[in-house]
Amino acid sequence: MKIGIYDSGIGGLSVLKELLPVFPTDHFIYYGDTRNAPYGSKSKEALWKINTVILNFFESNKIDILIVACNTSSALFLDEIKKYSNVPVFELIQPTAEKIKIDKFKKVTVFGTTRTIDSHCYKTSIQLLAPNTNVQEIACPLWVPFIETSSLIDTNEISIYADMSEKVLHAINWETEAIIYGCSHYPFLNRHLEKTWGHNSSNHPVKWINPAQTLASLLKKEKQRISSPVDSVPKIEFIITKSSTLFTTLSKQIIKNSTTTHNLNII
Ligand code: DGL
Repeated sequence: MKIGIYDSGIGGLSVLKELLPVFPTDHFIYYGDTRNAPYGSKSKEALWKINTVILNFFESNKIDILIVACNTSSALFLDEIKKYSNVPVFELIQPTAEKIKIDKFKKVTVFGTTRTIDSHCYKTSIQLLAPNTNVQEIACPLWVPFIETSSLIDTNEISIYADMSEKVLHAINWETEAIIYGCSHYPFLNRHLEKTWGHNSSNHPVKWINPAQTLASLLKKEKQRISSPVDSVPKIEFIITKSSTLFTTLSKQIIKNSTTTHNLNII
């Protein structure tokens, strides 16, 4: 099966990482729009134009399913993306809302880009399924530009440390039970965040939720139903719109345990 997956840049790699074990013999086409990153504070009009370029690209590549690995795009345009594409579309928000319902969290914080937070997509989807869940949404506009330009995600010298602490402490002092990475770039900060802030102010453990893992569990269950009968050659094609050393490094790290062949092109 040919799986199209896209994001503004490296964020979707955190999603690809979770999907590779589910689809080890399939053909992924990953579109990282590094030239237009970050998406999170661009106008809705500009973002729709950008999205249509990507959707047209996938249409001409005859994919079987599409993964929107960008919360900002699905927050703003999920219905339009579904109408525009003639293949099944999967994204990160709805499966995460279902998880919150199943896990019965009562106080949940969502970190996301300005556009995602302003859309209230997580709050709306969660409260539709679990009306008694309190959802606090916090925009983190500095995080994606930091992640996209940092050469070493694991560095201890995180230049946005003060901003990060302020936002996480806000959640922790509110006694949040779970924090959702409402932007696919943020799981790259997880090592640091989860280690530093594993408990809230009443010493209750905080569950850091990576929507990519939730989507991967869903797709594992759906795999049989959605798989196309035509076998594809297992491979990963990375397409980026501007050269990025960080993308090259991270994409290699993500696929290091996979035997699938891969290549990277800049368009
Ligand atoms: N990683 C994307 C998201 O999940 C886009 C972030 C950005 O480019 O601002 O929202």
